[in-house]
Amino acid sequence: MQIGFIGGGVMGEAMIKSVLAKGVAAPADITVSDVSQSRRDTMNERYGVKTMADNREAADGAEAVVLAVKPQDLSKVLGEVKGLSPQQLVLSIVAGATLDSLRQGLDHPCLVRAMPNMPAQIGEGMTVWTATAEVNQQQRQMAQSILAALGEELYVSNEKYIDMATALSGSGPAYVFLVIEALTDAGVHIGLPRDVAEKLVTETMLGSTRAVKVTGRHPAELRNMVTSPGGTTTEGLLQLETGGLRSLLLQAVIAAYDKAQKLGAK
Ligand SMILES: NC(=O)c1ccc[n+]([C@@H]2O[C@H](COP(=O)([O-])OP(=O)(O)OC[C@H]3O[C@@H](n4cnc5c(N)ncnc54)[C@H](OP(=O)(O)O)[C@@H]3O)[C@@H](O)[C@H]2O)c1
Repeated sequence: MQIGFIGGGVMGEAMIKSVLAKGVAAPADITVSDVSQSRRDTMNERYGVKTMADNREAADGAEAVVLAVKPQDLSKVLGEVKGLSPQQLVLSIVAGATLDSLRQGLDHPCLVRAMPNMPAQIGEGMTVWTATAEVNQQQRQMAQSILAALGEELYVSNEKYIDMATALSGSGPAYVFLVIEALTDAGVHIGLPRDVAEKLVTETMLGSTRAVKVTGRHPAELRNMVTSPGGTTTEGLLQLETGGLRSLLLQAVIAAYDKAQKLGAK
């Protein structure tokens, strides 16, 4: 598959690395444009892909054109890339850029809007994506194979779910990192060496998440299994409930969703 990347930054690189590793494309099939000479050199040296400063050149001849620039650079890029052939698929990972704004900016109908998250950088991302009605089955498969290289992917038929995903899985890693940090500090507070606390917390997060996934059981059921009557866990849970952990998480997601909608409406 011929893929043209507009923007070879953190996410552009993660995608290039993943599609190469998964055999979705070969280095000779990938073109990357970036304003930064040092990023172009890095992409070329690390992955053997063809690099250029001209965005239009990177898009020319690509079956899929991936937009991976920051939101503030998007309108300039759209103006430069405009005039694609109808067969070309555009896949945008730009936060807040709606299908309507992409359609208008590019005057192009075949569009995919995706929201990956940070763990995509290690191939363990969660990407939610949607497509315009004009995207055909073959283009949809193309988008899916690019996004599947980043980890898990989930197609949604309604674009409104992308802003919701932005607030949940897009911002989610930051919430989880904060919890990992706070639990580690708590372990240190009660006397554990920091490296020990870090390992205990990280493995507990990983193991608990895997337990939910592997058993398919409701988290409350699993929680009940580790909460003995009158025991230590129930004391800890009492503090979390008293402090309003559930309502705090709810408010965090609602606030992030409101912001995602506001940014999308700009
Ligand atoms: N990072 C994440 O975890 C994540 C998750 C979900 C979605 N996203 C989305 O992914 C997009 C890219 O994020 P990122 O973290 O990869 O950003 P990034 O590291 O800044 O990468 C963007 C790259 O594009 C270059 N660039 C700037 N203007 C350009 C132009 N006019 N033409 C071509 N290249 C240009 C930048 O160069 P300079 O640095 O020299 O400006 C930079 O190398 C963003 O829209 C973000 O919303 C990121």
